[in-house]
Amino acid sequence: VAIAGFGMVGSAVAKILTQQEYAQLFRITHVLNRRIAEKRVAWIPEDVIWTEAFEEVLASDVDIVVELIGGLTPAGDWVKRALAAGKSVVTANKQLIAAEGLELSALARAHRAHLAFGASVAGGIPVLSGLQGGLAGDRLAKVSGILNGTCNYILTRVESEGVSFAQALAEAQRAGFAEADPSSDVDGADARAKIVILARVALRAHIEPEEVVCRSIRPISAADFCYAHELGCTIRQIASAAVHDNVLHTSVQPMLVGRNSPYARVDGAQNLVVSTGCFGGETSFSGTGAGGGPTAVAVVSDLVAIAGSEQVPATSAPPALRRFTVSADTLAAHYTRFLVNDRPGILAKITAVFAEHGMNVDAVLQLPGFSKQALPFAITVEPCSQLILAEALHQLRALEFMIEPPLCMPFLERTA
Ligand SMILES: NC(=O)c1ccc[n+]([C@@H]2O[C@H](COP(=O)([O-])OP(=O)(O)OC[C@H]3O[C@@H](n4cnc5c(N)ncnc54)[C@H](OP(=O)(O)O)[C@@H]3O)[C@@H](O)[C@H]2O)c1
Repeated sequence: VAIAGFGMVGSAVAKILTQQEYAQLFRITHVLNRRIAEKRVAWIPEDVIWTEAFEEVLASDVDIVVELIGGLTPAGDWVKRALAAGKSVVTANKQLIAAEGLELSALARAHRAHLAFGASVAGGIPVLSGLQGGLAGDRLAKVSGILNGTCNYILTRVESEGVSFAQALAEAQRAGFAEADPSSDVDGADARAKIVILARVALRAHIEPEEVVCRSIRPISAADFCYAHELGCTIRQIASAAVHDNVLHTSVQPMLVGRNSPYARVDGAQNLVVSTGCFGGETSFSGTGAGGGPTAVAVVSDLVAIAGSEQVPATSAPPALRRFTVSADTLAAHYTRFLVNDRPGILAKITAVFAEHGMNVDAVLQLPGFSKQALPFAITVEPCSQLILAEALHQLRALEFMIEPPLCMPFLERTA
C-alpha cells in the first residue's frame, strides 16, 4: 500500500496499518507528500520509501494507492494513472468522487482494479457500505442527513451562546473546526459533494454536483433560534435527495428540525444519515463524521474489503444509474424571518404579497426585547413551493423598511 498525502488522515491510516494485526495483511511501501523532510516520523518502518514523486509510486509494484491529498488536482490525475496501471485506489476525497466518480469507476472496471471511497461521506460511519450492501434489498427513495461538522459547530454555538454567525465562525476558526476560507462548509459545497455520492449509491441517481442547489447558513442569527425554539424546533444544515414521480428533489440548506428529532441531537463532528426505503422504512446511520482516526478507520476498512475480495473486479458495468429531472424546489411548510425598521403597516404589506403568490400564513411570531430599529420577526407559511416563496421574498426585499433580505427555511419534518 502506498499512502499519498501524509496529513491528518494519511498519518492516521499509517498508524493503523503499522499495528500488528494489520501489518500481517498490508505492507506500506511508500509515503508520498510534498516537502517530506518536514513530514518524516520515526515510527514509520525503516523500509518504507518516503518520496515527493508520484512517478516513483506508479513505477513500483505497489498494489493499492491510498489517495489522501484531497482536492481535484493533482489527486484526479494520480488516481486515473494508478487505475490505468491496474492499481487499486482507496480515497477519502469527496470532491473528486462527486465530480469524477462515474468516470473513475468506469476506468477502474476497465483495468480490473478496485476503486473504494467509503471514507468520502460521513468519515468513520460505514454509511456507503451500509446503503450499498446492507440495504440492497430495499428500493430507497430518500436519503438525507447532517454531513458537515463545521456547520453543526457554528449553529450550535449561535444557539447556545446567542452569538452572531460571524462570532461563532471566528471561534470555530480559532478552535480549528473551520478553515481560513470557510465557504466550502458554510455555503454548502462540502455537504453537496457528499449528498451527490449518497444519491448515486442509495438512489442510483445520475447526478452532478452543479445540479444540487445550496443555500448558505451565513444569514442565520441568534433570533432565528429564539423563534425556532418557540416553534419546538432548532436549525441544522440538511443535505437531502428524494425521488418523487421521477423527479429528484435535492438541496443543501439550513432547515428547521423538531427539537425531539434525531437531527436536533447531532452535535459537533457527529454526522447523521437517514435513508427511507419503499419496503423497510427508515434506517439511520450516526457517529463521528470527521477527524483523522474515524476517517482512517473507513479507509482501512476499504483496504480490508479489497484484500478480502477473492474476485478480480468485473469489467462489465453495474446497473446503469438513472437520470432524473432534478428539482431545486422543496415543497414544505416554511419559516420566514424579516429584519425591519419597525413602523405601522409592515405586516399587512408582507401578507398581501404572500396572498398574491397563493401562500397561506400559519403563524406570526414577534418576541419582545428587540430594538424597533432592527426588529426581527417571523412568519410561518403553510406548505408551499420554496421557489414561489423565494419570488415573493424577492419582491418584498425591495421595500423601504427591510434592513436585510428576508430569510426562508423549510421545516424538514413538514416536507412533502
Ligand atoms: N480530516 C477529516 O476529518 C476528513 C474527513 C473525511 C474525509 N477527508 C478527506 O481526506 C483527505 C485528506 O484530508 P486531511 O484532513 O488528511 O488533509 P490534510 O491534513 O491537509 O492532509 C493532506 C496532505 O496531503 C499533502 N498534499 C496536499 N497536496 C499535495 C500535493 N500536491 N503533493 C503532495 N502532497 C500534497 C499535504 O501536505 P502539506 O502538509 O504540505 O500541505 C498534507 O500532508 C481529503 O480528501 C479530505 O476531504 C478528511
